[in-house]
Amino acid sequence: MNFSLEQLQSLWNKGKYIQVLKGNNDLSKLVLKTSTSSCEIYIHGAHITSFKTNSIEHLFMSEKSGFQDMKAIRGGVPLIWPQFGNGKIQTHGFARNCDWEIHKALVDEKAQSVQIEFLLRNNDYSDKIWNCNITSGKEAINSFHTIYRVTLHPDFLDLEFDVKNTCTSGSSSSDSANILEFQLAFHTYYQISNIENVYVLGLEGREYIDKMNNHKITKELNDKVQITNETDRVYLNVVPTQSTGVGKNYQPLQLIDNGSKTSITLTYDYQSMPDVVVWNPWIEKSKKMEDFGDNEYHNMICIEIGTINTPVKLSPNQSFQTKHSILPSNKSSL
Ligand code: BG6
Repeated sequence: MNFSLEQLQSLWNKGKYIQVLKGNNDLSKLVLKTSTSSCEIYIHGAHITSFKTNSIEHLFMSEKSGFQDMKAIRGGVPLIWPQFGNGKIQTHGFARNCDWEIHKALVDEKAQSVQIEFLLRNNDYSDKIWNCNITSGKEAINSFHTIYRVTLHPDFLDLEFDVKNTCTSGSSSSDSANILEFQLAFHTYYQISNIENVYVLGLEGREYIDKMNNHKITKELNDKVQITNETDRVYLNVVPTQSTGVGKNYQPLQLIDNGSKTSITLTYDYQSMPDVVVWNPWIEKSKKMEDFGDNEYHNMICIEIGTINTPVKLSPNQSFQTKHSILPSNKSSL
């Protein structure tokens, strides 16, 4: 069942778990709350702009972000779908620029969790710009049903993304004209005390595409990945492995901030999302981005989980499911 914003408002506003409010530029946003955490999500792009545990904000938002129709919000968790980077359609796809429908809302009082499910189907806009007949020459629109489920727990956040190829035209499932092909990334901007204080664990030994060096495939030799200049990398096949070294254990993907004495562990379904992007625009690129402050690169790092290097291909009626969790540590654990 789909909820209108008005229905949600009357259902939940008196409750303590979900509120519908007007956000920047009068765009509607949902505020989810548990006893110790909160999360804000704009309908525009199903875009998460805040995630707090124990009143600590974990997501970076640019002060210069425009909140405008058909433009992505700068910061938080932009949803990159169905295309990563440049390609046949607009950069990073259209999911982050569209208004999503609210499909379900669920409160689990026992587990103390709050869940919102957003829905995006093909529409006049996507039909116009995103066809699957580009190579085959056949008439076929990309027909899809995409669910984005955000679940706020007292101390972590779950993000789930499901896609179904709902194409019914065409003859058989092997008809290449009806294949739904896409990339996906959770383009998360983390708030940090200062870029000098942070490093990323869990990437050692992985190969990455270095976008700052002609897309050269390079092997990561550092166990602690630090950012000291403009960085734009797609790490490939980031599946955690058990180290053979004495006393060394399996190392998950982790962001460590020695300034704020916090860490965030990122877990995800490695089979469906094997790629991890690390991005910081640094000095010159920051100056060129109109919706980003010149000095804001000090206080953010993007660690983006996704499937980028190998696009997903779904036959008619086939589905894709994936999950990513963001688990901040307690302040005292570093
Ligand atoms: C990252 C890309 O994912 O997003 C970068 O790897 C890009 O190349 C960055 O600059 C920001 O993209 P956008 O479209 O949000 O400005």
